[in-house]
Amino acid sequence: MSLHLIDIDSLDDEGIRALLDRAQALAAGAVPHRCTGTVANLFLEPSTRTRVSFELAARRLGLEVINLDADRSSTVKGESLRDTVQTLAALAVSAVVVRHHEDRAVAHLARDLPEQAPVLINAGAGRAAHPTQALLDAAVLESRGIVWPDARIALLGDLRHSRVARSDCRLFRRLGATDLRIAGPPELMPGEDELPGVRRCDSVDEAISDANVVICLRIQRERIGAAGYPDGSEFHAHWGLSLDRAARLAAGTWILHPGPVNRGVEIAPELVESPQSLILEQVRFGRHLRTAVFEQLLCDQEPERHHD
Ligand code: CP
Repeated sequence: MSLHLIDIDSLDDEGIRALLDRAQALAAGAVPHRCTGTVANLFLEPSTRTRVSFELAARRLGLEVINLDADRSSTVKGESLRDTVQTLAALAVSAVVVRHHEDRAVAHLARDLPEQAPVLINAGAGRAAHPTQALLDAAVLESRGIVWPDARIALLGDLRHSRVARSDCRLFRRLGATDLRIAGPPELMPGEDELPGVRRCDSVDEAISDANVVICLRIQRERIGAAGYPDGSEFHAHWGLSLDRAARLAAGTWILHPGPVNRGVEIAPELVESPQSLILEQVRFGRHLRTAVFEQLLCDQEPERHHD
C-alpha cells in the first residue's frame, strides 16, 4: 500500500487482497494487532457509520483517538485543510481520517503534504471516492460467497453524485467482476466517460434482471443543489427497489446499501431488514475493514512516523 489511502488505486492487488482477507478474518473472530499512535478523525461532512467505525477500529488496536468536527475545529476560522493536518502532525498525530465535501480535497492534501506528514485515510471525498466503503462492500460480498467473475452487480439510484459507486465499480473491476450495471434517472446518471466498463440500463428492471447483487444508493440531496430532486415517492416508483421489483429478484440475490438509508425512496422499508439484506452486515464489516486498514498502514510503520 502507498503511504496514504486516497482511493482504490492507492492499493496494489496484494494490498487489496490482504485487506479483504484480514477484514473477513477479524469478522470471524481473529484477534486484532496492537498498535501505538494517535488517530485524528477530521470529518468536515456528516457521518455516523464511517466515523464511529474508524473510532472503534482504532480503539480496539490500542490507538488513541481524537475527533474533530466541522463546526468545532479551527477550519471554521479559515484554517486550511493542509495547515490543520500540519497542526495535528505537530501534536504527534500518526494518522488523519478525512471526510470532505470536495472531490479532490484528500488527494490534493496528500500531494501537498511533506513526506513526514501523518498517514491520510480518505473517509469519503465529494462524489469522487470512498475507498473503505468499497473495500467493506467487497469483503461482505466475499463472505457471502460472491465469486467475482460470476458477480452480476446492479447499482441503482443517484449514480452521478455517488462516491460509493465510483469506488465500488473501480474495486469490483480490479477484483475480476465484468458484469456491472447501473440504472437511475437520466439527470442522476454519471457522465458517459465515468464508470468505464459499466453497462448503462434504461430501467431498474433491466439492471436487476438476473443480478446476484443489488446496491441501492441514496439521492445525494446535499450535492444536487437548489433545484433538488422530485419527491421521494415518485423516485421510488420509477427508480427505487420496490417490493414488486424485489419479488422478481433471483433467489439468493443480495441487497446492499452503504447508508444512510432513506426508507421508501431508494429502497422499500421492508427490504432493509429482509433476509436478503446485508445492510447491517456492511456496517458490522466497516469496523473490521477499518481495523485492517489501520493495521496495514500504522502497525508496521517506521517508529519515527509517530513523531514522539
Ligand atoms: N456509508 C457512509 O459513508 O455512511 P456515513 O455517512 O454514515 O458515514
